[in-house]
Amino acid sequence: FPGSEMYGGFVGIYDYGPTGVLLANNLKNVWWKQMVKRRPDIVGLDASIFMNPKVWHASGHVGGFADPLVECVSCHTRTRADHLLGEAGIESDEKMSADELGALFREHAKRVKCPACGKSDFGDVKFFNLLVHSNLGNFTGDGEPAYLRGETCQGIYVNFKNVLDSTRMKIPFGIAQIGKAFRNEITPRQFLFRTREFEQMEMQYFTAPGKEMEEFERLKRYRLEALREIGIRDENVRLTKHKRLIFYAKEAFDIEYNYPFGWKELEGIHARGDYDLSAHAKGSGADLAYFDEESRERFIPHIVESSIGVGRLFLAVLCDAYHEEEVKGEKRVVLKFKPSIAPIQIAILPLSKRADLTIPAREILDSLKDRFFCQYDETQSIGRRYRRQDELGTPYCVTFDFESIGDTAVTVSDRDTMEQERVKIDELPAYFSDKLSG
Ligand code: GAP
Repeated sequence: FPGSEMYGGFVGIYDYGPTGVLLANNLKNVWWKQMVKRRPDIVGLDASIFMNPKVWHASGHVGGFADPLVECVSCHTRTRADHLLGEAGIESDEKMSADELGALFREHAKRVKCPACGKSDFGDVKFFNLLVHSNLGNFTGDGEPAYLRGETCQGIYVNFKNVLDSTRMKIPFGIAQIGKAFRNEITPRQFLFRTREFEQMEMQYFTAPGKEMEEFERLKRYRLEALREIGIRDENVRLTKHKRLIFYAKEAFDIEYNYPFGWKELEGIHARGDYDLSAHAKGSGADLAYFDEESRERFIPHIVESSIGVGRLFLAVLCDAYHEEEVKGEKRVVLKFKPSIAPIQIAILPLSKRADLTIPAREILDSLKDRFFCQYDETQSIGRRYRRQDELGTPYCVTFDFESIGDTAVTVSDRDTMEQERVKIDELPAYFSDKLSG
């Protein structure tokens, strides 16, 4: 839902509804399984959104985390300058200054158009810092604002030493975290693709200098396989090397997804060198050097990271699952989610509202609901209910009909093949464990 919809919405903010939250939670759980549960070399963390403002100075965000903004002289709409140039087919560079970008606007004066009014009259390009400010603990309003974190990984860097000192992790090892991040995006758009409040799933892997690129290659392969595992089709995913590098990166790749609005970044895989830990060692005065007992060397660990937004993954999974098919002359809209991430895994549908069908159907629900996401539905015709479950992407429907009373079996329908089979009621938990495991 658009955030605060009844008040006209709030730009760049969305709320997940009852089904959306199930899908988002499943995506986070699968990520956690892939990045922590299955990986003895990676531990989890949940750092706070608020951090000492010094963190954001040391990280470079207060000084350098900015996007170029340009304002239409005619209607005052503000837009990302680099995006506007890109849409007009004019290449800009991430390292360009405001003046250099402004010169590109003047050079191509007629080609670049305001997305709101269509005119080609722009003011100067200015850099706009993306960090969101708050007044946390700042009762007089003066002094430094507390920032809402612009990326979750800074919480990992400032806890690197805590984790090292309180666990038996040895380099190479990783720290993973899922959490909210906030950016004052100039032009949030494309639904969940670019929002001002979003959730990141990030893993930072700490390596010895010289080992970084090996781990970088491994991480790229691992993450592509992880996306395949949740059912995203290979043909909709590609790796693209960054031509332009952000201030901290040594090498960077995007895993791009073929969204309906084009190939766009779904996930970033970055080699960050020793930039982050060196910056925080300098900023805080803490000694973040690691002593490697095998090589007898001391070094500042180098970092490779993977970073993916829950919203961007949600949108990719939704687009990937969406299918329209024709069934008996009628259009069927079906979301073909991998069963392991489907928001609802089993729908339980008594054929009619009669008590001799609904009571045992509810007992079936009780026997399955602890292990699987189930939905009970007794309203409208059975055909209508099947189509409703197709639209929710439910892989299996269980129908309790009049014969079920006598033969203690139910009909299980498969969302994708639309085939049906009779299964004994007491065998359902094992049947679904087999079908839905993983
Ligand atoms: N720690 C590295 C980092 O934050 P990033 O490329 O700025 O790198 C990583 O962001 C990922 O976070 C992106 O690939 C995207 O999935 C997600 N993301 C970033 N900004 C976003 C926004 N405004 N809305 C939704 N997702 C966003």
